[in-house]
Order: sequence, then C-alpha cells, then structure tokens
Amino acid sequence: MHNFPSTPYDLVVFGATSFVGRILCRHLWMRQMEGLDFRWAVVGRSLQRLEELQEELGLGTEALPVHVVDAQDEEAMAAMVRSTRVVVSTVGPYALYGSSLVALCAREGRDYLDLSGEVPWIARMLSFEPLAKQSGARIVHCCGFDSIPSDLGVQYLQQQCQDLWQEYCARVRLMVARIEGGFSGGTVASMLNVAREAWEQPELRRLLANPYALCPDPVGPRQPHSALVERDTYTGQWIAPFVMSAINTRVVLRSHALQGKCWSESFLYDEVMLTGDDWAGMVKATAIRAALLSFFSASALAPTRRLLERFVVPKPGEGPSAQEQEDGGYVLWFRGHTKSGRSLWVSVEGDRDPGYGSTGKMLGEAALCMAFDRPHAELAGGFWTPSTAMGSLLRQRLQEHAGMQFKVMEAPAR
Ligand SMILES: NC(=O)c1ccc[n+]([C@@H]2O[C@H](COP(=O)([O-])OP(=O)(O)OC[C@H]3O[C@@H](n4cnc5c(N)ncnc54)[C@H](OP(=O)(O)O)[C@@H]3O)[C@@H](O)[C@H]2O)c1
Repeated sequence: MHNFPSTPYDLVVFGATSFVGRILCRHLWMRQMEGLDFRWAVVGRSLQRLEELQEELGLGTEALPVHVVDAQDEEAMAAMVRSTRVVVSTVGPYALYGSSLVALCAREGRDYLDLSGEVPWIARMLSFEPLAKQSGARIVHCCGFDSIPSDLGVQYLQQQCQDLWQEYCARVRLMVARIEGGFSGGTVASMLNVAREAWEQPELRRLLANPYALCPDPVGPRQPHSALVERDTYTGQWIAPFVMSAINTRVVLRSHALQGKCWSESFLYDEVMLTGDDWAGMVKATAIRAALLSFFSASALAPTRRLLERFVVPKPGEGPSAQEQEDGGYVLWFRGHTKSGRSLWVSVEGDRDPGYGSTGKMLGEAALCMAFDRPHAELAGGFWTPSTAMGSLLRQRLQEHAGMQFKVMEAPAR
C-alpha cells in the first residue's frame, strides 16, 4: 500500500489522523485553498482513518494522496522518508514511536519537524547529529506551543534590544498572562511516559533537572528556580510554575548555545504563570503548584498512573472540542534586562487554544518555512531549534497566517 511516487513530495504529514495532525492538515489544506502551491501527502497507520480525513477535507486522492505506514515497519518508513523533502511527525509519544524516523531522516538527508516536548528523548536523538550534519538533514523538534512562542519570543526580544541599544538582555523572564485551552490524550500520554521513564531511571531524573540538558556543552550558570509561592518583583503578581517551562527553557538555552552564547555567558531565563496580585492570586498559585506536584507524583507510580489513565486524563485521540479551540488563546509577556540596567518588554499572543488550534497552525507554517524559505545553502544539516533554524522568516509566517502577534509593549501597570 505504500506506493510512494518517484517525484518527491514537498512534505508529508506522518500521524495525519492524530488529534493535532487533523488540525495541522486542515491548516495546510486551507493554505492550498488560498492559492499556495505545494505537493503533500498524508500518512498514518489506518487507511480507514486516512480516508475519513480525506473526506473531512473534501479532497480526493489526486489532490491529497494517502499512504499507510506503521511506525514499526522500517521498510515502509524508509520509503516514506525517501519520498519527500520534509517529514512532519505527530506520532507520539515520540520516545515510543519516533526514534527510527529521526534516524532515517538524519541518514537520508531529509528535513524533519515534530511536536515533541520529551527532553530525555530529544537528548537521545542528538546522537544522530553527526549523521544529519553529514547528510544535510535539518532536524527541528518542538515546533508547537512548546517551544515556538518561547524560543521566537526571546529571539524577538533580543533583536529589538539589539536594534534599540546595541546590547542584549542578560536576564529574561517569560510570564504567562493569559492561557485558555485543554490537553489532549496524546500530550498526556507523552507526559506520563516521561514521568514513568524518570521514575525508573535515576540518570534521567538528573538529565531532566539540568537546564542545559539539550546544550552541546551541558553546563552553565545556575538558572533561576523558584521553589515557593512568591510574587514577581516587577508586576507585583503572584507566580506559579509554568508546566511547559521544563521543555521551553531547555530549548531557549540550546538556541543561545547554538549562537555561541552571544546574549551573555551568564544569560538567565525562566518561565512562570501570573495568577493575580490579590489573595485569590496567591491561592491560585498555591493550587497550581500543588496540582502539578500531585500529577507528577501520581504519574510516576504504576498503580496511580493507571488510575489517572483510566479515570482522569483524556484518552489518545481525544482533546479540546472545536469550540474550546476557537475560544482559547494565550498572551505571553517577556521582560528582559540588559547588563547596563535597561529593560524591555515584548508580548507574544495567539488566537486559538495553545496546544492544538494554535499548535497545528504553527507546525504547518514551520513545515512550509523549512520546505520553501530555508535552502540548504543557507542552513546546514544538524539539530536546530525553531529560532535558529527559521527565526524571523517563521515569525513573519506566524503573524501572517497563524493568528500570532509579536509586539514591543509598555511595562504593565502595577
Ligand atoms: N509541542 C506541543 O505544543 C504539542 C501540542 C500537542 C501535541 N503534542 C504532541 O504531539 C503528539 C500527538 O498528540 P495528539 O494529541 O495528536 O496524539 P494522538 O491523537 O494520541 O495521536 C497519536 C498518533 O500516533 C499514531 N500512532 C500511534 N502508534 C502508531 C504506529 N505504530 N504507527 C503509526 N502511527 C501511530 C496514531 O495513529 P491513529 O490515528 O491511527 O490512532 C495517532 O495518529 C504527542 O506526542 C503530543 O505530546 C505536542
């Protein structure tokens, strides 16, 4: 059934029938309806589900070819990789299903993008970097809500700061000012898998605790880490941990390292959620911290993990409704300080729920950006981050086609 054509596609979507894959495919289809010309195909393990997707989009096989490939079938996977310039994968948990695909892309010199936020797995995949450098494959993990807004937001702040004052910020904090959206079964399955692996392997716990886990040289200054409920000094608001900071901070620090630590050898970065400046804000911050702690403790142990999977969290394939995606959105503030005492604020906003409605569009634009805006003569093979691979080219696409805005802002009133 995997009769891939001899003329390569511009891109293939592997896992097209996943919860987020269907949103991604709708976005790509809408871009074609707007007149963008590209050749793509959808790939998954179930022909029936792929045909349902074709039907949902109102497209025939001519306009949108489908191919059946299982992640366990190495031969079919290799055929898929050779059939395209860019592979986009939403088949997760990536630690369970994604390794051979990354290895194949690195070996065959094909570009690869995904939505992984699984730090231990990404760290393992870095062992294929020499292959990717040799073949010219550009591998870019984390092309969704984690970690495009963080990674491109910090890059935008630093560029503005450089343009204004010819200096960079040595200290940056991301603050989540608004976030509305839910989780899908696929995301929860990936988080549970990381927690299980970390419980079983002490060296993984050490890796997860290292902010430089994804950097070529995994050492650096001690990064900020707030253990107790506290207020942000500049906004006066109570702050809670931001669940995605565990991956986002690692990606931002890798971006900094890949640019020769140009922002400062002592660059510091953290991410928090703002919960308000009154007593209700304090209660909310405390509740978020307690909920996160309970979730990660429960997911580490097999019996409580099974209870969570059975009764509490969404199942694979499930996620926020179309209305919830439509009503969702997010506002992120970034505050940077230079060594000379200047400070600058920027915001990144998105118009759909972060993890799905917005992520599907981000991943689609990132794939198009790699396929059409980044010739191999300009970007060599290797394991890049979204900002170091695509930077302002992607930012422009996100503003024009993905409902995102990057702006310099006034410091919020206290
Ligand atoms: N970074 C971010 O911001 C972000 C946001 C959202 C999701 N994610 C990540 O993206 C991934 C997908 O999330 P989701 O909610 O869309 O998950 P999902 O709905 O559970 O989808 C998982 C996909 O994997 C496919 N699959 C499973 N085993 C396979 C195999 N052996 N061969 C081929 N395909 C296989 C499934 O195929 P079927 O369709 O046939 O079941 C399905 O398409 C997860 O890892 C999640 O953590 C990240």
